[in-house]
Amino acid sequence: METKEHDTIVVLDFGAQYSQLIARRVREQHVYSYILPYTTSAATIKELNPKGIIFSGGPASVSTVGSPRPDPAIFSLKIPILGICYGLQVMSIMNGGEVIRPLKREYGYAHLQLLETPSRLLKGIDNNAVVWMSHGDSVKKLFDGAVCTCSTENCEFTVVENEERKFYGVQFHPEVVHTPQGSTLLRNFVIDICETKAQWSMESFIETEVARIREIVGDKQVLCGLSGGVDSSVVAALLHRAIGDQLVCVFVNNGLLRKGEADLVISVFKEHFKIRLQVADSEDLFLDALKGVSDPEKKRKIVGKVFIDVFEKEARAAGDISFLAQGTLYPDVIESISPSGGPSVTIKSHHNVGGLPPDLAFTLIEPLRELFKDEVRELGKELGLTDEIVYRHPFPGPGLSVRCIGKITKERLDTLREVDAIFIEEIRKAGLYGEIWQALATLLPVKSVGVQGDERTYEEVCTLRAVTSEDAMTADWFKFPPEVLQVASSRICNEVQRVNRVLYDITSKPPGTIEWE
Ligand code: XMP
Repeated sequence: METKEHDTIVVLDFGAQYSQLIARRVREQHVYSYILPYTTSAATIKELNPKGIIFSGGPASVSTVGSPRPDPAIFSLKIPILGICYGLQVMSIMNGGEVIRPLKREYGYAHLQLLETPSRLLKGIDNNAVVWMSHGDSVKKLFDGAVCTCSTENCEFTVVENEERKFYGVQFHPEVVHTPQGSTLLRNFVIDICETKAQWSMESFIETEVARIREIVGDKQVLCGLSGGVDSSVVAALLHRAIGDQLVCVFVNNGLLRKGEADLVISVFKEHFKIRLQVADSEDLFLDALKGVSDPEKKRKIVGKVFIDVFEKEARAAGDISFLAQGTLYPDVIESISPSGGPSVTIKSHHNVGGLPPDLAFTLIEPLRELFKDEVRELGKELGLTDEIVYRHPFPGPGLSVRCIGKITKERLDTLREVDAIFIEEIRKAGLYGEIWQALATLLPVKSVGVQGDERTYEEVCTLRAVTSEDAMTADWFKFPPEVLQVASSRICNEVQRVNRVLYDITSKPPGTIEWE
């Protein structure tokens, strides 16, 4: 973890669903922040030299035997600590305070009642400000040396502070949007109390990351698979900035891409960035392997296998490659580390990439592994990628094979590409692309009767789907103004020969998934 160059704040994770959000809110103050499991030893933290520590909330109750506790030596590091919810409670009981479980758990909005006691943490926060509460336990007796600076109707010790030791605690959640002045509180802690310099920005990230990549890579070569998606595009642009022609990109045109996709990738990366790009035109290979297959699982397996075969060939053709670049993001990194998973974050530096033969055991290079998705977008823009690339909707690895339901043929894929292109074009024209997480069309293996002019038609049915979502785990269908669907439907039926009926999918996830498969 790169921590030396700029001031950092460590978020100690007690299993909160909001830990990532806390780190993001701190970064929004232009101070670098990352998450460590609560089991991280005080010695490790000391070595990392953060300017402040935030204890996250968590689902446990401090009174439960075996509930998470940080290393007690953390309280002797002379580093400011802010405890949020469970973080406050755990700090309290480990420093002479008491916590009780009232009969009723408090969940929802509350209003702050500021007390007379001076408070650094609450500087600039209004009396009566709205905050978001979600807790079962409450502090009953303050921890040593602490004073209470704020209450709410149902919670006496809502904000507590020990100015001398720089220990602070809040019962509510300053990191969520339901606490509108939460960022002021976090800024007070991060900037004023922890005395950090707000120097972390995408420009500084690029500078340190470029230097780091150059140092790691030396005069060796790096291979990067481009998919056309945001993450791999940003990885390629960043690596190119760092090592220029030592980067070789591979783009596999599997014939399952959207309309114009291959041209876009070539024009951006080869023509604009002048990146060494190997394009593997493998449409026939994929379509031959998929011939006659309708089972979604089988399709996925086939696409995965052919991809590995093609990629392997390209990797060998690329020459003497030492590194393989991947667009792993911070949420993937955190997910793979459980809160109790070990003393510190270890970085996997050497392992085989799924499916590639052992003699192609590259060292992985993952330059985005410290970033959240919106930061990746910001980075992409800073590196000169266009909005079209940076704000793209997600697109599945197996491409249109999961959207062309039933047997896949070139003809059906072409039909689907046309439908998809019209749908996306109409969404863009209506100015709605940015409001939608993902929009997609599928082609069903169903024919229905229609009429066009005086003629009876018997053609395929397509579905349109657009969803809003935060993380693709859950999703809701997008409520289009009817005119947008009307124009899309009428254009599809008029312009796409083999489709005569358009359905709009109004299933949320769950129970539906985003893709149809
Ligand atoms: P589902 O359909 O499971 O999709 O609700 C959730 C998100 O994941 C994408 N998706 C995939 N992405 N390979 C990928 O790279 C896949 O096999 C795959 N299947 C689904 C989907 O587009 C959505 O964003």
